[in-house]
This record gives sequence, C-alpha cells and structure tokens, in this order.
Amino acid sequence: MSSAASHLPTLLKVLSDPVRLRILGLLELEELSVGELSRALGMAQSRVSNHLRVLREQGLLAERHAGTSTFLRLALRADTGNGRADFATRLWSTLREGLAALPEHDSDRMRLAEVIGARVEQSRDFFDRVAGEWDKLGTAFQSGQARQRAVANLLPHGLVLADLGCGTGYLARALVGLAGRLICVDRSQRMLDEARRGLAKLPRGTVVEFRAGELDALPIDDDEVDGALAGMVLHHLADLDAALAEMFRIVRPGGTAVVLELAPHKEAWMHAELADRHLGLESSDVAEAFRRAGFEGVGLEAVDDRYCPVRPATDGEPVEPVALPLYLVRGRVPSGRAD
Ligand SMILES: C[S@@+](CC[C@H](N)C(=O)[O-])C[C@H]1O[C@@H](n2cnc3c(N)ncnc32)[C@H](O)[C@@H]1O
Repeated sequence: MSSAASHLPTLLKVLSDPVRLRILGLLELEELSVGELSRALGMAQSRVSNHLRVLREQGLLAERHAGTSTFLRLALRADTGNGRADFATRLWSTLREGLAALPEHDSDRMRLAEVIGARVEQSRDFFDRVAGEWDKLGTAFQSGQARQRAVANLLPHGLVLADLGCGTGYLARALVGLAGRLICVDRSQRMLDEARRGLAKLPRGTVVEFRAGELDALPIDDDEVDGALAGMVLHHLADLDAALAEMFRIVRPGGTAVVLELAPHKEAWMHAELADRHLGLESSDVAEAFRRAGFEGVGLEAVDDRYCPVRPATDGEPVEPVALPLYLVRGRVPSGRAD
C-alpha cells in the first residue's frame, strides 16, 4: 500500500470534522495567531488548540514563531491542476468547494474581518502612542546609507554631480550615495585633501573625483555633469558672471545648478578671519547672474537654517554667537541649448 493510501483513513477522519474544515478555510485566507483564530471561530482557545494539534499531526499547518507569538497558516497550496499536487492537497481542493455550505461560513468570515480590523487598529494605536518618541525609538540606522540608496534609486541612474568650492566636503558628504559620480572642485589642494579624507569614511556607492581648479575656469568638460552645486563660495568671488557662465557650460542641457549663499550681513570680522570678499550677497543679484548666464526657471528658496561661524575671541570680551541667514538659488540649463 502506498504511504498516501496508508494515511488515507486518518486524513479522511481528520477532515470529516466541520470545525477543522472551518479552521483550514480561515487559515487559507489569512495567517492568524491562535487567539485570533479562536476569535474568528467564536470558540474557546482550548477547544481550538485541540483541533490544531490534530491538524498539525497531519502536516496541514505551517507555523511561524515571532517572540512569544505563534502564527498559523494552511500548509497546503491550492491545486493548480498540473497533476503534481499530493493527495492531501487534491482532497483539500475538493473539500474547500463545499465550505460555503457550512452554516458558520458567513459568520466566520465576518468575525475574521473584525479580527483583521482589530489588528490594524492595534497597530495604529501603537504608532499614535509612540509617534512623539519614534525618532528616539525606531529610527536608529547606523550609517544612513540605506536611506541614501533608497532615495538615490528614485533619481536618474548614475547622475553626475559637481560640488564647486567644495572646501572640506560639507555638501559633498550629502551627495555621496546619491550621485553615480561626484566631482569635487576647489582652488585649495589642502581643502581637497581634507574633503577626500572625510568622504573616504562614508559608505561607498559614488565614484568621487577631486580636481583642483578655479570657479571661473572649471576643470570640467562641457555638459559633463547633470547638476552642479556651489555652496558658500560665491561670496569669495570678484566676478559672479564668470563663475555662473562656467556652471552653465559644464551642466548638460536640462540639468540644474544650485547656489547656497549667505544673505548680506554685518559681521565684518569674517572678511579678515574667513577671507570673505563680500559680507553675504543679495539673493536678487545672484538670481540675476543666473539669468544673465542663460539659466531658465531661476528660483529663489528660503532655507530654515543658519550659518554659525565661530567668531574668534577678543581679549576679555565675551564672544557673541553668530547665526546668519542663508538662501538657495537654482536654475536649469535650457533643454534646447545651442552649443
Ligand atoms: C567657505 S568654503 C565653503 C566650502 C563648502 N562648499 C561648504 O559649504 O562648506 C569656500 C571654499 O571655496 C574655495 N574657493 C574660494 N574661491 C574659489 C575659487 N575662485 N575657485 C575655486 N575654489 C574657491 C575655498 O578654497 C574654500 O575651500
């Protein structure tokens, strides 16, 4: 006698019980804990557990453990009719067609819907309760690369970006992981060395190049980049137009240039201590320079941030903290630029 045939009387006996059929019917629809299954059946958990033991012995249930909870589902897959299903699967396929005729069928499904609804409500209540604490409880990612890679996948693949006047790489650090290739440019080799050191500590995912050069004669080919960023550097320049013309040249048609700048301020010490040529720049002057260079869609964006350089202490005088307003200007190279 084949093993399927030897199990046949037991299997038929197990499946002849209407409660067990109802259990299998529910577990075919949804993975449930024993408690949830008992509520869906409208039955005491002890009684349900006895039936589960019998079904388990026949290998009809799949179990998943999560902490102290056990979740159950039907171990049989629907018979696809390809002739490869085992005997129990074929038997179940026939029996399940008769489930709707059981008197408890509709109420089982109604209670199942309530059980699933309660599960959703429980989860919503949990997150409502912890929302205020969630950033301390549940957003502890080690490197942040997962988020960066997730966002990068939304961007055009292999984006080439440039950080112009990159300094020690404050902005470049936010681009590593997002860009396919990142070109960092600065006139100071020591700044480039610092940027290289800082960026080397970050998770990879971006090819980073360091090029020494000037903003008005960028070491970057025509149309080489999809986007260029110049942060906190225009206030060092004598000639905005020359730098913007270079940004326009290196960004491919349809690409974007962004400038992060300081609004005009009165911190005269920054001239001597931080080599600032201008004490901030009017955003309208920067926007005009974008337009003169040929950028379209020029836009100004206020940012909810401040630049807080450390003012050197002067003899005996307390050092007042500095917090200077910033803004962004962006523009797009027209798609139909004639080169
Ligand atoms: C204030 S730092 C800003 C660095 C970085 N972008 C940031 O936001 O932290 C200015 C940097 O621009 C560089 N720089 C100034 N004028 C430049 C020019 N004409 N061409 C290239 N780099 C320049 C300086 O060497 C310095 O590293």
